[in-house]
Amino acid sequence: MNILKSIAFITLGSSLLLGAPQQAKQQDKQFQNVVNIGKKSSLLLLKTLGSNMKRHMKAGGPMQALDFCSQEAYNLTQQVNKKLPSGITVKRISAKYRNPVNQPQGSEKEVLSSLKKLQSLHVILPKQIVQKVNAQTYKYYKPLVINKQVCLKCHGNIKNKDLKRAIDERYPQDKAKHYKMGDLRGAIVVTIDKSVK
Ligand code: HEC
Repeated sequence: MNILKSIAFITLGSSLLLGAPQQAKQQDKQFQNVVNIGKKSSLLLLKTLGSNMKRHMKAGGPMQALDFCSQEAYNLTQQVNKKLPSGITVKRISAKYRNPVNQPQGSEKEVLSSLKKLQSLHVILPKQIVQKVNAQTYKYYKPLVINKQVCLKCHGNIKNKDLKRAIDERYPQDKAKHYKMGDLRGAIVVTIDKSVK
């Protein structure tokens, strides 16, 4: 074998060998990218809704906070979406939803039931899950668990009669009551569509 041929042989060999790890590296990078975007976007929504809710709760108690949730939560979510780069959207979903716009779509439903199943097996839920929907699209899920007493005011066994009546009037099909501390409430979903530039 002359020297040129052997260089060609070595180059071919090493690129074949390198092929798989390089692909894995690229997938790793893509995964990290999705996680970073998902973390940032879900936190932005969570903070926006959380800080406003706190403010209204302090100012006017659960009735004012209810007005905020039912009138503003959806609009604020749309506003957060406007701030995000194109191709990235964020929303809340729940299997036991209050507002039907928040019901899970397509395989989101199975992701939620899988999380519920894991919880029933006493698995500590992961902070995040990444789903590759297709070559262009990823979904980042942040599981939401009832972790504060305040959530139960409106999602537990509601003791305040006026509040209960107001919720029943606004949401006749409400499924989001009777939760307990530690229950899976739903998830924040960040959809990342790489085909949109
Ligand atoms: C003052 C009442 C109130 C409190 C307190 C409250 N929520 Fe809600 N929550 C609502 C209302 C009303 C909606 C429906 C909002 C809408 O129409 O988009 C809602 C919707 C949601 C949704 C979207 C899914 C669905 O069911 O439509 C999630 C998730 C959620 N709440 C989680 C929580 C968590 C977690 C806490 C505690 C940190 C909490 N909520 C505290 C009233 C409340």
